[in-house]
Amino acid sequence: MKGLILSGGFGTRLRPLTYTSAKQLIPIANKPIIFYGIESLVNAGIKEIGIVVGETKEEVKNTVGDGSRWNIRIEYIYQPVPLGLAHAIKISYDFLKDESFIMYLGDNILKEGVNEFVEKFKRLQPDAFILLTEVNNPQEFGVAVVDESGAVKRLIEKPKEPPSNLALVGVYLFNKNVFTAIEHIKPSWRNELEITDAIQWLLDNNYQVLSDRVKGWWKDTGKPEDIIEANLLILEDIEPLNQGTLIDTVMNGRLVIGKGTKIEKSVIRGPAVIGDNVFIRNAFIGPFTSVGNNVIIENSEVECSVIMEGAKIFNLNKRIDRSIIGKNVVINQTNTSPRSHRFYLGDQSFVEIVE
Ligand code: TTP
Repeated sequence: MKGLILSGGFGTRLRPLTYTSAKQLIPIANKPIIFYGIESLVNAGIKEIGIVVGETKEEVKNTVGDGSRWNIRIEYIYQPVPLGLAHAIKISYDFLKDESFIMYLGDNILKEGVNEFVEKFKRLQPDAFILLTEVNNPQEFGVAVVDESGAVKRLIEKPKEPPSNLALVGVYLFNKNVFTAIEHIKPSWRNELEITDAIQWLLDNNYQVLSDRVKGWWKDTGKPEDIIEANLLILEDIEPLNQGTLIDTVMNGRLVIGKGTKIEKSVIRGPAVIGDNVFIRNAFIGPFTSVGNNVIIENSEVECSVIMEGAKIFNLNKRIDRSIIGKNVVINQTNTSPRSHRFYLGDQSFVEIVE
């Protein structure tokens, strides 16, 4: 069985971060999001993965490589325009051929991985197998109606009056019949070949579509608050490892601290991950924070946030909370007058000052 990871798309909801970086490469606990997907497939025994890439293809290739670090083979499939999940499958035929495959959206993280679903797909051999989870806001998802055995009866994309609260999770398993389905569907109102339409075509033509519920949490990291939440969920399970130098510093909870990192006169409260060559002085790092390599934090407090590599944070008299700070960002507070805010912010940046 092959794997297909989708890492194209525009990531508009994550601007400005996605102006300069692929959303699938945003770090969660200092590891690119897409690595969680690759590792889930590797754990399920998949040895060949195709990654669909768009305009950020070079960056994705450079970060992920040829798969040798996981002892697998990775091939890249270029999708010039993100014309939908079913379109991504269609253009991957030369890689997938007639083999069954698991498609994994490159911005999704599943705590329990996919082993169980791969095993079930191989055993039951349906034409398609989808993963579902209960949500409070089914209006915002593709929603499935299933019978008590898990057989799928109907799919509806973002229904106004949802017939169930079972949303589709970004992992799908197919045999070659999905290519026939995709040949028969037309682009939707948003000009995308929708995977829900392809699966509905299979249902309408008496192919078998089965489903299972996701166990453990699942996170689609499409929006900024999802990144904070995914970071929090991943940090809950980290294994402590301290390779840094700590002077006059209080540490509580589970912490990963990288090589060459120096922390002085600070309080570090886990779970948190701090990368390599970080310098922290007179600071508070609170729970659920990830700090990338080469960051400097002085005279400031940070909690429940993702601070990416090379950022510098100095002298803030208020805590940074539930924030995402991009690479090489500088945040500084001075006491010179007149008192003012001074910003150099990229397009669609977001600033909130809570007094
Ligand atoms: P989405 O989150 O639905 O789309 P997006 O990444 O373009 O984000 P936004 O809506 O904020 O603009 O995509 C889910 C995943 O699938 C994501 O990893 C990108 C990938 N994808 C492709 O590779 N090709 C496509 O044609 C589409 C629509 C998505």
